[in-house]
Amino acid sequence: MNHYYIGMKKVKEYRENAIKEDREDILREFRNCFKTPERLIYFDGNSLGMMPLESEKVASELISTAWGERLIRGWNEGWWEMPMKVSGKIAQLTGCDQDEIIVCDSTSVNLYKLVNAAIRIQSDRKKIVSDDLNFPSDLYIIQGIIRNLNKGHELVIVESDNGIDIDYDKLFGSIDDDTAVIVLSYVSFRSAFMYDMQRVTEYAHMKGAMVIWDLSHATGAVKIDLHSADADMAVGCTYKYLNGGPGSPAFLYVNRKLQDSVVSPVWGWLGEKAPFEFSLDYRPSEGARRYMTGSPNILSLCTLEPSLDIILEAGMDNIRNKSLSLTGFMLELYHTFLEPLGFGLGSPEKDDERASHISIKHPEGYRICRALIDDSRGNYVIIPDFRPPDNIRMGLSPLYNRFEEVLEVMLDIENIVKNRIYELYDSKTELVT
Ligand SMILES: Cc1ncc(COP(=O)(O)O)c(C=O)c1O
Repeated sequence: MNHYYIGMKKVKEYRENAIKEDREDILREFRNCFKTPERLIYFDGNSLGMMPLESEKVASELISTAWGERLIRGWNEGWWEMPMKVSGKIAQLTGCDQDEIIVCDSTSVNLYKLVNAAIRIQSDRKKIVSDDLNFPSDLYIIQGIIRNLNKGHELVIVESDNGIDIDYDKLFGSIDDDTAVIVLSYVSFRSAFMYDMQRVTEYAHMKGAMVIWDLSHATGAVKIDLHSADADMAVGCTYKYLNGGPGSPAFLYVNRKLQDSVVSPVWGWLGEKAPFEFSLDYRPSEGARRYMTGSPNILSLCTLEPSLDIILEAGMDNIRNKSLSLTGFMLELYHTFLEPLGFGLGSPEKDDERASHISIKHPEGYRICRALIDDSRGNYVIIPDFRPPDNIRMGLSPLYNRFEEVLEVMLDIENIVKNRIYELYDSKTELVT
């Protein structure tokens, strides 16, 4: 048999396998909870999750009735409790209690609050440790705080040797008696590398340092147990695997043990004990609500809640199992079809180090993405995203992605490269990639 026939046979086997996996998938019905446009394969749930149908319904009810007719009365008809109610559901997904977590502001702003607070607690230490896999906004926040404080703090950025993961010895080697706080993404936005939260936290605590985890690429994708890791603090966003919608509010977690010493640098009336007493002096409220600042975004909280209910019903164990199967299948296809074409792998292969997206690298990565997204070509529009210099990032969301989609996409990428279809596309990057 020549190469062509061996290839065809493999595709046939993979297709049968994908169809079987989809048929036996215990989460398959959850796809129906989302709006799934025709001819679209969406592999960008790690940037902006798909829209739950229920979100569309509650948003339009909120606009037409609650806002349109009930107006200010809405605050006494459920809006006021909304952040705490939604936080309770995120607490179940992250392994903490409701009063340790609060939905508010953006991830960047919440990180600003927590890094400031940690530095204040660790006032005799000057070092902040992070890594070069972290999301740039997190590093900018730290740099800004150091500049504003002007007290001689230093940011140490541990470098990855391969752009995929971090060597624990190297990380631990940078933590010493002068380290105030370590700020890390639990799951790296570029490679999907996942830290061992418990191991890092234990080591940091042994050295007297605190850890702030960014859970943005983890929440709703992998199991998180903040309590069993004895995590100090965390932040995360809700528009990725939590499907809250564009710009939906972030969350912030502070271990109950630390809440009296963790003081937010931004005191607002929503974090005050009794905002409608209009006290002239700030008195922090009980629990994590004290870290709120201003009025919550009710519209976004309403669009977020249905997805949290879906995730809780589906169960994080099932979601994680399917995520590992989807990414595992993609890795196998990558080795069979794409590695021989000069692609490189930008994600970990080991299950316990890999979250729910796969990055593949190619010098023409951007133009390959443009070809995938082009709706005048082929049967599907395929949406991954692109992270410079050469990463095609494919987020696999177990609630709505299917094994057959994984096969379609990998075969299409093979076709685009083998037949040099990417050459038809401009390499000028768009504003949002
Ligand atoms: C890991 C990580 N941290 C922080 C952010 C910034 O989030 P926000 O825009 O909510 O500040 C992002 C945004 O994508 C992210 O991926």
